[in-house]
Amino acid sequence: MQLDLFDGQANRILSRADYAGFAGELAGSGCRRCPLSDSRTRIVVDRGNPEAKVMVIGEGPGENEDIQGKAFVGRAGKLFDTIMASVGLDSNRDMLIANVVKCRPPGNRAPLDEEVEACSPFLRRQIELVRPRVIILLGATALKRMDPSKKSFSMEEEAGRFISLPAYPGIDFLVLYHPAALLYNSRLKPAMWSHVKELRKFLDAAG
Ligand code: URA
Repeated sequence: MQLDLFDGQANRILSRADYAGFAGELAGSGCRRCPLSDSRTRIVVDRGNPEAKVMVIGEGPGENEDIQGKAFVGRAGKLFDTIMASVGLDSNRDMLIANVVKCRPPGNRAPLDEEVEACSPFLRRQIELVRPRVIILLGATALKRMDPSKKSFSMEEEAGRFISLPAYPGIDFLVLYHPAALLYNSRLKPAMWSHVKELRKFLDAAG
């Protein structure tokens, strides 16, 4: 995938054939493809293991991620780690965690459509290079980005569903609540725990 010929920097990043090269180049690029670059501290590419068969897509970096340059290292990330550990999954070893946008939206607001659009070639390339078997979509922003046919929906209906998307053959997607939603509404926790048990069963069956 190539952007227009004038965006040489993005093309250089996207043409890297290895994940480490791609991630290093993007993190150090000083990318200015959207206005989030005005307020970010660091470009947050990921956390975890690019060799893992599970990839996780969240929304965008928060304050801690913006400072540390790593995805999901704040409160929501710690809760996510705990939930995954409850079914024997280590989020640094068993998954590669990324976000829809790589720069922090001011005040942790949801990213705007044009910000998501500007960053989408990077997420797509990230998926191509990781070649995961399963992608976990955390929350509505990730679901909307990966399945643009979803215009209006409720996470109560979507969470826990396995879906496939024609644009990504061979990958199963699991929609989960975003862990930040659980921090605000602990009544969602029992459903989340039952959904991650299903994930565990799915991974065990997939071998
Ligand atoms: N929320 C996200 O969606 N991503 C992060 O990296 C941190 C918090």
